[in-house]
Amino acid sequence: MQVMILRRLGNKSELSSSIIKHFPKHKYFVDVFFGAGGIFFNKPKSDYNILNDIDSDVTNLFLVVLNQKDELEKSFYEMPIHSDLVKYWYSKIEDEPIKKALRFLLLSNFTLLGTGTSVRHMVSSGAGGVKDFKNKFKEKLDITFSMLYGCNFTNFDFRKFLNSLSFSNDGRNDEAKTFIYADPPYLATTDNYSHSFIEQDSIDLFDCLENSKCKFAYSEFNNPFILDQAKQRNLNVIEIGERQNLKNRRTEILITNYETERSLFD
Ligand SMILES: C[S@@+](CC[C@H](N)C(=O)[O-])C[C@H]1O[C@@H](n2cnc3c(N)ncnc32)[C@H](O)[C@@H]1O
Repeated sequence: MQVMILRRLGNKSELSSSIIKHFPKHKYFVDVFFGAGGIFFNKPKSDYNILNDIDSDVTNLFLVVLNQKDELEKSFYEMPIHSDLVKYWYSKIEDEPIKKALRFLLLSNFTLLGTGTSVRHMVSSGAGGVKDFKNKFKEKLDITFSMLYGCNFTNFDFRKFLNSLSFSNDGRNDEAKTFIYADPPYLATTDNYSHSFIEQDSIDLFDCLENSKCKFAYSEFNNPFILDQAKQRNLNVIEIGERQNLKNRRTEILITNYETERSLFD
């Protein structure tokens, strides 16, 4: 069963097996741009996990799953999944954690591309429709809870987050056991995230990842700017596959600072 409770444009669930097979062995996992958790929920759980996203809707949802699961479940089943509620929540921000989580789930999962502007799946009785989602929600919530149990969530810009990762100096060499996965919004695309990426963000991300001294993998499209940065920095580039975004079809790549089987620059 697809376990993710959040359906979000750009999540890596469908590509997860093609990406995860290139991950190195690791004990500690760091996901800098968690989103819907398309990679995290599809990989074996590591001993220690630090999960970050700048979007407080994302971090609030998963913190509510961790800390108020039963209340969330009850409120979810009481919520009328209806276009009137979509319209109401589209123009109203919520601060109270449970309401904020429900609003985010409703707008992300049941409106076109998560924009809140038009309603999809409301009438579908098949897979992905409201009825199907309601039927599976409890089970998905329980699995999500157990997978997130013991994980740390943060809500920072990636620069602050990565620069504040600290490792003890007691000779355990935790950097070598840590793997960082970075899946930012695609460069210069208008995906429907609250924050988008420009070239300077990509440069900063490469710098922060390299400064961490950990093994890392960075997901992107084969954008010429990104490929040039990877080449200048002597990183490996693996082709993952073709992917259709809102406007065009492009090649999804994974950039790594560790040896991989196939590289575009071989
Ligand atoms: C492509 S999505 C990640 C998708 C995720 N890997 C998945 O499979 O569900 C990018 C995420 O980065 C977050 N983000 C955007 N700018 C950020 C920043 N400056 N620092 C941290 N997170 C950011 C967005 O909120 C979004 O959730």
